[in-house]
Amino acid sequence: MRVLSGIQPSGKAHLGNYFAMMRPAVESQANGETFLFIADLHALTVTPSPEILRERTMDVALDFLACGLDPEQTVFFRHSDVTEVVELSWILGCLTPMGLLERCHSYKDKVTNGLKPNHGLFSYPVLMAADILLFKADSIPVGKDQKQHVEVTRDIAQRFNNAYGEVLVLPEARIREDVAVVPGTDGRKMSKSYGNTIELFESPKSMEKKIMRMVTDSKALEEPKDPETCPVFALYKLLVSQEDTAVMADKYRSGGYGYGHAKKALAQALIEYLEPMRKRRDELAANSDEVERILRAGAGKAREVAEATMREVRAAVGLQKKS
Ligand code: ADP
Ligand code: TRP
Repeated sequence: MRVLSGIQPSGKAHLGNYFAMMRPAVESQANGETFLFIADLHALTVTPSPEILRERTMDVALDFLACGLDPEQTVFFRHSDVTEVVELSWILGCLTPMGLLERCHSYKDKVTNGLKPNHGLFSYPVLMAADILLFKADSIPVGKDQKQHVEVTRDIAQRFNNAYGEVLVLPEARIREDVAVVPGTDGRKMSKSYGNTIELFESPKSMEKKIMRMVTDSKALEEPKDPETCPVFALYKLLVSQEDTAVMADKYRSGGYGYGHAKKALAQALIEYLEPMRKRRDELAANSDEVERILRAGAGKAREVAEATMREVRAAVGLQKKS
């Protein structure tokens, strides 16, 4: 089984990115072949400055390596180093009905929120389909919000195979239901665009401050509380064992346990959990040549697979004689 996922270098990674996407990707790397890339080409849809794009790309590389990504087990690369993806994207785009893209929630949401759409933003699901299909990936670990894009990918792959023969593999989205939506400090989905994030590598002090200000209901200390609707509990649950989760759930339900207590426990658990990763990140940040070397080596491996698929695709569509 081949697992593939990408992350946009769109700013500092937050706990939502980590629990829904980074941690599962790192955990699954020993179970099968894993491809993971930094989606810098996707990031161009919102035209960041070149300096910011470069800086954020390096940030993502450091974040993943610090979180335990092993470049010997995982093919880890920068999207733009594998230019075949742009060629495949064009070919797939010519098979993609406009209506399929017009129905994409993520595009519609961005436009509703006032973003002036460019062609790249509109056709972004086609590039994402190319990312996946180029590597004949079977399983795509993503957050819930990306499910539709994986469905679009399947639709496009099916159209390609119907038109040209069975060349492409239909992928499945893998959504971890327990972490499908990681709540932010205000209880809504944690997202950069809501300003409710806790960054993965922000200082422990600032993490603690944000946690102590998290939004909860206004139940008094002595009242019983519902853990299942509380964002503090939801984050805590992601960090600790099932036993520790059950202990906190009991405290919530029996009353006499305030949100302040829960927040303190969360802050402590989070800071301890991240400490070894923080250390590793600092070491890597001081050695950026090594990070660059890792990404280039990953791109080399990725391009071997990409080229093999493209030879088949070109032959199938008639761009090149079958060899
Ligand atoms: P943001 O909403 O902050 O811009 P991104 O769109 O960059 O986050 O998300 C990158 C990846 O992390 C995607 O796979 C997305 O589904 C996942 N993700 C981001 N935030 C959350 C969250 N709060 N809960 C679950 N998954 C999330
Ligand atoms: N669109 C994804 C996001 O915004 C990132 C991404 C790009 C991706 N290409 C992908 C994820 C291919 C999985 C597979 O988070």
